[in-house]
Amino acid sequence: MKTILIFVSTLDGKITKWGDPEIRSWSSKNDQDYFDTVWNETRVVIMGSGTYNPYPVKPNSKNLFIVMTRHPEEYKSKAAPGQLEFTNESPLQLVTRFAKTGEEKMLIVGGAQIATSFLRDGLIDELWLTIEPKIFGKGANFVIEEKLDIGLELLSCTRANNQGTLMTKYKVIRA
Ligand SMILES: NC(=O)c1ccc[n+]([C@@H]2O[C@H](COP(=O)([O-])OP(=O)(O)OC[C@H]3O[C@@H](n4cnc5c(N)ncnc54)[C@H](OP(=O)(O)O)[C@@H]3O)[C@@H](O)[C@H]2O)c1
Repeated sequence: MKTILIFVSTLDGKITKWGDPEIRSWSSKNDQDYFDTVWNETRVVIMGSGTYNPYPVKPNSKNLFIVMTRHPEEYKSKAAPGQLEFTNESPLQLVTRFAKTGEEKMLIVGGAQIATSFLRDGLIDELWLTIEPKIFGKGANFVIEEKLDIGLELLSCTRANNQGTLMTKYKVIRA
């Protein structure tokens, strides 16, 4: 099973504009379409409660959304079995679970805390990063501030529009 971390960021590595969780106000239409396509092609989509809470995903029959929280009991009324789960399983437990059930890939859609947990534990195979030609200065980065040392190798880079939105795919290199 391939584990893919997907983000849209600015040239200065920001995944929010000044901390506002609304992404679609600044990301390109190209990225939004791309993200929707990838999302529709992947059954298992993992996110942290910090990403879920501002814009809760609606359960549907195509996806299994997994929301990581240390307080799953607080979300009982929102859960939809087989479509939307709230869990305090660790990143390793989740990867093990979905590898066992035969999933082809698992999409980790953020945010920064969740991305950092998976990267720290060596559980990400690829980073799919859209880079918008913008600089916000202030806002969250796609990893939280902690010491990491992760090598990546560029697999592909596509220019998506005239302004120069870049869609990149990197492979994580394990030592
Ligand atoms: N530009 C992009 O592509 C993009 C993508 C995604 C998100 N974002 C932005 O990123 C922001 C959210 O990021 P974030 O870092 O604040 O939050 P996050 O990573 O989405 O979620 C963090 C929360 O997940 C829970 N958690 C963390 N580690 C866990 C673990 N190992 N097991 C179980 N639960 C765990 C904790 O919540 P509990 O308190 O519930 O335990 C924690 O507060 C939002 O503003 C969103 O808009 C941007």
